[in-house]
Amino acid sequence: MTKRILVPLFVIILVLCGMSMAQDKTGLKDFFNNNFLVGAATGYTFMNDSLVVDLLKTHFNILTPENQGKWGPIHPQPDKWNFKPMDDLVAFADSNNMQVIGHTLVWHSQTPNWVFEDENKQPLSREQLLLRMQEHINTVMGRYKGKILGYDVVNEAVLDGDASEEILRNSKWRQIIGDDYLLQAFTFAKQADPDAQLYYNDYDMCDPVKRDRAVKLIKSLQDGGAQIDAVGMQGHWNIYSPTLEEIEKSIIAFSELGVKVMITELDMSLFNSNEKGDLYRESIPDSIVQLQSDRYEQIFKLFRKHAAVIDRVTFWGTTDRSSWLNNFPVRNRMNHPLLFDRNAQPKPALYRIMQPSL
Ligand code: GLA
Repeated sequence: MTKRILVPLFVIILVLCGMSMAQDKTGLKDFFNNNFLVGAATGYTFMNDSLVVDLLKTHFNILTPENQGKWGPIHPQPDKWNFKPMDDLVAFADSNNMQVIGHTLVWHSQTPNWVFEDENKQPLSREQLLLRMQEHINTVMGRYKGKILGYDVVNEAVLDGDASEEILRNSKWRQIIGDDYLLQAFTFAKQADPDAQLYYNDYDMCDPVKRDRAVKLIKSLQDGGAQIDAVGMQGHWNIYSPTLEEIEKSIIAFSELGVKVMITELDMSLFNSNEKGDLYRESIPDSIVQLQSDRYEQIFKLFRKHAAVIDRVTFWGTTDRSSWLNNFPVRNRMNHPLLFDRNAQPKPALYRIMQPSL
């Protein structure tokens, strides 16, 4: 046989090996066993969907609550806590040998207004807000001590956009407490559960400007004495960007700070950020499926190359059906960002990721 036939034949055999592994219940978590944990975010009702439960058990060894642990859902009013959804997730994980990530303790979004106000709706003082932050952190981390591997202590604190010397987003946390609100949050978290891992998590971490700001922020937190175990790069990417080079630069830049890197919210939209149409409702062209599979393969190759510093790769959802990208940034548009389709069937990208040659 000539080389022209042998090479494609070899590629087909490798993909078939990936397919057979994916079908014989060897999951992603087994495939990447020596590299990193493989996780999925799960919403409120995932346990009612037996197909999703099967996928979770086969492929994932760590879960992130999609909303259940955020301030608004878990602590909707000053004296009201809603622990049940989080307790259920933790119990499910425990009985299926999975770990859990706490997401998230301090964030500008999905945090009710009352958090920042007194009973007369007047802004709290710095001291009052710090106390409220500490009580919240103590209550959540105290309840799940020993049951949660690590927490996104602060989510999305870094400013977007090019034209500023500032590092931090001007959130209410920052306005009331000041720039040290992150240092305070990490200090409270460390006190609340000294054994939990502590993470800083953000999006667009491959954008050079935002990456530099994040590096400066982490350095300043470390200088202030904070324990930061990992930087979470959310990884809400699309089939066109960011480039592999920028992803790699960020992995290296963060790991050089002496912290681990986690890909915490991975999905791959079929749309670039300016596209507004609903192009893939009826069908997806082969070329687009191909592009998504190629890119998933390339980024997982890259993750494997840097497995010494990457501790975890978590997908933001399990199947395309329940992805948040069906409603963001365009409401009710059909997107297909994950490894399993709307019927919970594996997509070509899964087989490409699970090739032995990866
Ligand atoms: C951010 C948050 C997540 C989630 C996604 C969108 O990335 O960290 O909790 O809200 O946005 O679903």
